[in-house]
Amino acid sequence: MLSIDAGTTGALRVAPSILAADFGALARAVGEVDAETDWLHVDVMDGHFVPNVSIGPPVVQSLRPYSNKFFDCHLMMSEPERYLEAFAKSGANGCTVHVEVGHTADLIRQMRDLGLRVGLAANPDAPFEAVEPFLEDIDLLLLMTVFPGFGGQSFIPDVMEKVARARHAIDDGALALDLEVDGGIDEVTAPIATSAGANVLVAGSAIFARANPLEAATLLRRAAERGRSCD
Ligand code: DX5
Ligand code: ZN
Repeated sequence: MLSIDAGTTGALRVAPSILAADFGALARAVGEVDAETDWLHVDVMDGHFVPNVSIGPPVVQSLRPYSNKFFDCHLMMSEPERYLEAFAKSGANGCTVHVEVGHTADLIRQMRDLGLRVGLAANPDAPFEAVEPFLEDIDLLLLMTVFPGFGGQSFIPDVMEKVARARHAIDDGALALDLEVDGGIDEVTAPIATSAGANVLVAGSAIFARANPLEAATLLRRAAERGRSCD
C-alpha cells in the first residue's frame, strides 16, 4: 500500500475530506468522486487537540481496499507519536502532524522511518516562522484556513499572506514541497488559495455535502485552475 505515491510535487491536487461524507456509506461516497479527485483527505480528531472526535486507523484500514488514492491523513491529535505506526500499517500513505504539538523534529523522523510521506500543519494563528525551520525536511506543508475541529466553517482569508510567503520560500529554495490548504475551500475560495500559491486543496462540505459530489469536484478543480493561471 505504501507504494501509492503522491504524484508530482507542486501539481494541482483536489483532496476531498471524508469528514463531510456519509460514514455509513463511506466506500460508496469515496468511489463516487474518484474520477475527479487526486488524494483522499482523512481527518483524525482525538477530542483533545481539537474539541471533536472522528475516526482512526480501523476506518483507514476498512476503506483501503476500496480506493487506490493517496491517503492524506491529517492528524489533529495531541500525541500523534502513539498512533503513527498504526496509521502506517492501516494503509495511510502520508501523515500530517500539527506544529502546535511540539517535538516536531522527532515526529518527522518517526514518520520517515515508517515510510510515510511527511506533512506538517499549522493553525491559522501560527506564524510562518513556526514552520520555516522544517521546510527542508517535510513533503507537505498544510496551512489551515480554519481553526481545526469541524467541517463547514468559513475560510479565513488572512491566511493567504502566509500561503504566499510559503510559496515564495518553496520556489526560491527549489524545495520539493506540496502546499496544502484546508478549511472553507469551495469554488469561490479555491482560486484565492491557488493564486496565493497553494497546490493541494482539501474540501469537505464543498464536495460531499453537495447534491452531486462528482460535479462539485469538477467545478472546484476548474475554479482552482483559474486561480493558478492568474497568479
Ligand atoms: C477541519 C478539517 C477539515 C475539514 C474541512 O478541522 O481539518 O479537513 O473537514 O471541511 P470543510 O471543507 O467543510 O471546511
Ligand atoms: Zn483536514
